[in-house]
Amino acid sequence: MKGLVKRAGILGMGTSIPQRVLTNHDLEKMVDTSDEWIRKRTGIVERRLLDKGAPAFGMGVEAAREAIADAGLKPSDIDAIITATISPDYLSPSMSCIIQSHIGASEAAAFDINAACSGFVYALGIANQYVLSGCYRYILVVSCEAISRLVDWQDRNTCVLFGDGAGAAVVGPVDEDHGILALELGADGTLGHNLTIPCCYFTPDDLAKRAHENKQVIWMDGSEVFKFATRALVYAAERVMEKAGITLDSVRLVVPHQANIRILENAMKRLGVEMERVYVNLDKYGNMSAVSIPVALYEAFREGRLQKGDYVLLVGFGGGLTWASCLLKWNR
Ligand code: UT7
Repeated sequence: MKGLVKRAGILGMGTSIPQRVLTNHDLEKMVDTSDEWIRKRTGIVERRLLDKGAPAFGMGVEAAREAIADAGLKPSDIDAIITATISPDYLSPSMSCIIQSHIGASEAAAFDINAACSGFVYALGIANQYVLSGCYRYILVVSCEAISRLVDWQDRNTCVLFGDGAGAAVVGPVDEDHGILALELGADGTLGHNLTIPCCYFTPDDLAKRAHENKQVIWMDGSEVFKFATRALVYAAERVMEKAGITLDSVRLVVPHQANIRILENAMKRLGVEMERVYVNLDKYGNMSAVSIPVALYEAFREGRLQKGDYVLLVGFGGGLTWASCLLKWNR
């Protein structure tokens, strides 16, 4: 089949969101914060947390099974699994290998990628290349995060922001007029120090930024990341539209990474996109890192906000610092 596929697209999607809800009012009892501050400064009202002691991969398995069924495929049809995560259960085996064993996609290639909140779109980019090259036909892309395990629950600067979940998509061949039209993936590693989660190595600076007993937790310079995020959203959106040769006016829906409503409002204002054309669900889930975009895309489709032939712009930014955007012509 080499060389025969002209376009790849999303054939099916699935999600898994934990039952446990943590509201802003719950957080008021944990740190010096208020529902009013969190709503005003971020737009977040509540988030979902994985049960303590439960593995993150369980969410990935559930989302993967739904996506494969939604695509009308069997697990044995999947040729490769790419999981985007910064909160894997193990460094080895990868989350993808664990998911592979549970869904029974025997012999599928399986590996994880780390592009933080941009991870889903990066993984779509890799899947797109595999499908177009003829190397693989059906790629399962899973975003799976239990960020709650990496949060210092005494640090009000970060603990109010994040939530857990999983989202999955099957990427495969679609007709030439639809699917992934353009991608823009990028990073500026010189800014990486603004959002860090140490793993096997710590500098004195890493330790100084964290309460002593909490080495492997998120530390973020919120306002630096905020400025980068606004810039990166605008840049990534403009670049991908330019590559596709399509104007933003033609885009039916923007599905951005869900970190902060103020970032979205600032960026969309600069882009000239009304908020009515932007999908927002951060009020319910907070920032789920790589999971935010696939869950938002899934919900937008289920709510009837996407029809076949619509242009939809996925755009994200995050740790690394990274950015990623993808213009799709919706094929479902
Ligand atoms: O997905 C990864 C990418 N991450 C992001 O995109 C996050 C980007 N950054 C942000 O969303 C925002 O910067 C935050 C929501 C993290 C912070 O909002 P901000 O408006 O930039 O607040 P700030 O950091 O400038 O802090 C303002 C004040 C500070 O108090 P002082 O120093 O002025 O007295 C903070 O200590 O707000 C205080 N503050 C809080 N107050 C109540 C910070 N967090 C909280 C809190 N509750 N949870």
